Amino acid sequence: MSEPYYITTAIHYPNGKPHIGHAYETIAADVMARYQRLRGREVRFQTGTDEHGLKMAQKARDLGQTPRELADEMSFSFKNLFDVLNISYDRFIRTTDADHHRASQAIWDAMEAKGDLYLDRYEGWYSVRDEAYYDEKELVEGEGGEKLSPQGTPVEWTEEESWFFRLSNYAEPLLELLRTSAFLEPTSRRNEMIAFVERGLQDLSVSRTSFDWGVKVPGADGHVMYVWVDALTNYITGLGYPDGGELWDKFWPADLHLIGKDIVRFHTIYWPAFLMSADLPLPKKVFGHGFLLNRGVKESKSAGNVTDPMELAETFGVDALRYFLMAEVTFGQDGSYSAEALVTKVNAELANSFGNLAQRTLSMVAKNMAGKLEAFEPAGDDKALLAKVREACVVTLPQEFEALNFSVGIEAWLRAVFACNQYVDEQAPWALKKTDPERMKAVLQTLLIAIRDLAVAIQPIIPDKSTAVLDQLAVPMEQRDYAALADESWFAANVASGRNIEKPTPVFPRLELPEAEAA
Ligand code: MF3
Repeated sequence: MSEPYYITTAIHYPNGKPHIGHAYETIAADVMARYQRLRGREVRFQTGTDEHGLKMAQKARDLGQTPRELADEMSFSFKNLFDVLNISYDRFIRTTDADHHRASQAIWDAMEAKGDLYLDRYEGWYSVRDEAYYDEKELVEGEGGEKLSPQGTPVEWTEEESWFFRLSNYAEPLLELLRTSAFLEPTSRRNEMIAFVERGLQDLSVSRTSFDWGVKVPGADGHVMYVWVDALTNYITGLGYPDGGELWDKFWPADLHLIGKDIVRFHTIYWPAFLMSADLPLPKKVFGHGFLLNRGVKESKSAGNVTDPMELAETFGVDALRYFLMAEVTFGQDGSYSAEALVTKVNAELANSFGNLAQRTLSMVAKNMAGKLEAFEPAGDDKALLAKVREACVVTLPQEFEALNFSVGIEAWLRAVFACNQYVDEQAPWALKKTDPERMKAVLQTLLIAIRDLAVAIQPIIPDKSTAVLDQLAVPMEQRDYAALADESWFAANVASGRNIEKPTPVFPRLELPEAEAA
């Protein structure tokens, strides 16, 4: 039986079109999901939209729409983007889904049965942008002296009747969780959360009465749940909570909640406390990634530098975008995006390096060997090259991907690509054609095996492009997972069948910077 693996992204507010940060997080989760599948694990991958709350209600009102209309329209554009980006999700959850309302009410009932909910009055600060309550002590001062949240968003004074969750009861188990386990990564985020708990936890307001766009609180007319209570519950709704069943048994607790660093508090304090209250197991890991900046600057409507990820995918191609985002940024830290950097990196590393390697090797096999493979035993330099490539593909890349060090894994892969190109230059198979045709065949076939390894290994990052290369190499579908990296029966099968390697069409065309960007 293969080991299950459950991975989730944050679910996104559909109060506007998706921006590049949404694409970034979801691509990273997709890379992890694909990587785990290639390792043979049974993966469940969930993403979706977080549709309730005041932010959605206000935005819809400003647009003269109902919240439901806004949610429908924008949720569709998220889903559409993820489909275009080749995101291999198993469920795209919407918090307006009926099963999600049921699950949220069920966890509420469980927390109430535990004695963790009571009715009182909330008087304090609220940031609609963050959908977050802040203590007076946490606020910072804006340029005009106005009060801002620690994230720099506006806050408003709020007073209303509200249900409260006894968060203060959970300080000890939360500290234990944060201190003694690798629950939260990267570790740089841990101290912040530990300090937050150590300063003393206040009970959390978990319902709202001043608007009605949310999940109804069971048995409390006029109350809808605080949006984060229902939002976080999405992770278990998608597995059939509260009914249980096969998905639940197999996949809960989640292996990884992948989120942005700005929402670590919700995921490593509120969410585990809710789960403890409801007597449910805790997720194994929460990873808070960094932000993607546009030429070093945060994207915002007011700065006028918002990038439409759909346009990027159309201009440069989905796999170029995926490769760039994963290779460029050290995962966990902030990173910077620009069209020039994308074009430069993708041209250097995919078009000129891996693409060129595959293109020239396959062309020579088609032309100089009539596309026919012959049995051979790699030795000497050939064997050494294959050992180097295999080390990168079988050991280093998987190790780094497992630890979410995507860019480091890609670097190891790229070094192996460089080693192959250096080998081509040194061996000069085009010259061997006349002087030593047998040796030429050994060189080209060594390269074919190396390219197969490289294409298999990099599939999580560039799924379509690597598929195209594996198709050209005639690697059967069932020999494209990581276990097959140690197996060369595809090569022997091609020798036996006498199947021709066709003259290849280039898989990685060079990108050009559109004129508007180049100017
Ligand atoms: N919608 C929230 C945000 O974008 C994230 C919610 S993730 C959740 O900041 F699953 F926990 F709800």
